[in-house]
Amino acid sequence: MTSVPVSPNGDLHITRIYGSIAEASSASAAFLYELALVGDRGMLGEVIKVDGETVTLQVYEDTTGLAVGEPVRLTSNTLTAQLGPGLIGSLLDGTGRPLERLASLSGDFLAPGLQAATLDNTKLWDFEPLVKVGDDVTGGSVLGSVEERPGMIHRILVPPAVTGRIARIERGSFTIEEPVGALEDGTPLMLSHRWPVRLSRPIARRLVGDRPFITGQRVFDFLFPVAEGGSAAVPGGFGTGKTVIEQSLAKFAESDVVIFVGCGERGNEMTDLLKEFPSLIDPRTGRSIMDRAVLIVNTSNMPVAAREASIYLGATIAEYYRDMGYRVAMMVDSISRWAEALREISARLQEMPGEEGFPPYLASRFGQFVERAGRARSIGTPERDGAVTIIAAISPPGGDFSEPVTQAAQRVTGALWALDSSLAHQRHFPAVDWTTSYSLYADACGQWFAQNVARDWTEVRRDVLHLLEQERQLRDVAALVGAEALEPRDRLVMQVAAVAREVLLRQNVYHPHDASSSPMKTYSLAHGVRLLYTACLRALDAGTTVDAAAFNEVRRALDVLRESDEGGVKSSLSAVQALTENIAPARTTRADARRKRDAA
Ligand SMILES: Nc1ncnc2c1ncn2[C@@H]1O[C@H](COP(=O)(O)OP(=O)(O)O)[C@@H](O)[C@H]1O
Ligand SMILES: [Mg+2]
Repeated sequence: MTSVPVSPNGDLHITRIYGSIAEASSASAAFLYELALVGDRGMLGEVIKVDGETVTLQVYEDTTGLAVGEPVRLTSNTLTAQLGPGLIGSLLDGTGRPLERLASLSGDFLAPGLQAATLDNTKLWDFEPLVKVGDDVTGGSVLGSVEERPGMIHRILVPPAVTGRIARIERGSFTIEEPVGALEDGTPLMLSHRWPVRLSRPIARRLVGDRPFITGQRVFDFLFPVAEGGSAAVPGGFGTGKTVIEQSLAKFAESDVVIFVGCGERGNEMTDLLKEFPSLIDPRTGRSIMDRAVLIVNTSNMPVAAREASIYLGATIAEYYRDMGYRVAMMVDSISRWAEALREISARLQEMPGEEGFPPYLASRFGQFVERAGRARSIGTPERDGAVTIIAAISPPGGDFSEPVTQAAQRVTGALWALDSSLAHQRHFPAVDWTTSYSLYADACGQWFAQNVARDWTEVRRDVLHLLEQERQLRDVAALVGAEALEPRDRLVMQVAAVAREVLLRQNVYHPHDASSSPMKTYSLAHGVRLLYTACLRALDAGTTVDAAAFNEVRRALDVLRESDEGGVKSSLSAVQALTENIAPARTTRADARRKRDAA
């Protein structure tokens, strides 16, 4: 394990302890977020307030037994993440300590006093250099690579602040503690380096979010898309499907690397996560999702400070893989637990509370975290473009979205996927409320889908949204006068909107071909619903009624399309199209011609 250098002026002593918070004085020059070794056992702590002579620390370990008068040693370091090969596949606590090693320390979460040694320092990696002696390198430059997991290339990066000329570089097998080379000034080149978790890693520049983060969930990709490098909040009451959504995204969304931060309410929820998550099978490789994932886990019995830090650790690892040129998906389930940790710490600090006891800086802290999402061009050479997309679940108490965390999320994230308890009760999953959800990325992503999937993507989307909106209004009317009293056209809107909800917006996570939907299948289903609607309108325009049997046949064909595999999408859509002819033939009717003339 790597021990933290300790500054010589260890003249601090604990004056007060309350929960995971310790106060110490008289202060030597401590700085905010400086790490300290607290007490005789040297437990890891972090300075969260400096007030004259008094330093307040949050301790990342169980403070039971810690006593007033014990020493506090400052380290001149901040909390860092150890970044290098071997991160993928690891299960970590909020400060980066591997859980396997923690578990062996019965009951205790860590070997006291040491900054997290995340990586295995005995494992040998086959290093393949990319640079040669005499090359000039700067921070972020790629020195070479190792194969971290089968098929997963880990680019070895020069630490951000380092520059120089290569004096020595070797191909061969190395542990993370052996230099693979050196710069002319003697700086050793290693397979890993550390980075402070609360600081964003530097980039050359931000890139525009002009492409979707493809989730495989139709209601997101089609109605409320998130840009690659964007962020979404997923608020929902208990049992509305937040965890299922986060895990579906981990499995199916188009990303190279997944960082999953679990902050559970109850201990067993995290035990479930530790069991379930590694057993998720990556559909692209047929192997465990852990071949491209890092799982960070917090339970309620871990110190509150570790929970607060966990999202920054996650963001730092996410940025590190982004800097290698990867598309990283970062999931937090749920970030409400982080906000509650912030509240708890703030209360202990006796800060002036804001709404519902949360500190007034909740939204700005949340915003700073979300800022770490983005598409970016890396620093150093050769040029790499990568992205971090953040999806944060929120568990509002009682499912009430007016609470501070959901409100803060709406101010700082680009999309809101609002989950609705009544939809979940009806077993309409994903239980996304299409009337309150939104995405600020819809236009940019729509352009991408139009160029890459179907030219009329945005028109079809607009029509489907319009249909759903009309249904919402008609529902109120129907509730008053009864559905039979509606005009035939309005009744038609209700019927087709119901089909749209059933076949397009609903998705069964347990069906092998419905669990994830390609953009082409998503489009085909939406297009099919629109074909059904226009055929029915044609029938009404022609003065006939819509034949119920013919309608149901199309409906069934849409179900077949929904459950078809990728290879069957095209033929299933043709079947839908052919069956709509039984409702009304697609030749140009007089009404069509009139509509065209009116539109022109
Ligand atoms: N897409 C889905 N398809 C089928 N069932 C679902 C889906 N999403 C959620 N469910 C059901 O809802 C239950 C609760 O979901 P969960 O994600 O644990 O809720 P939350 O995390 O919001 O409390 C799941 O166990 C599952 O039975
Ligand atoms: Mg959950």
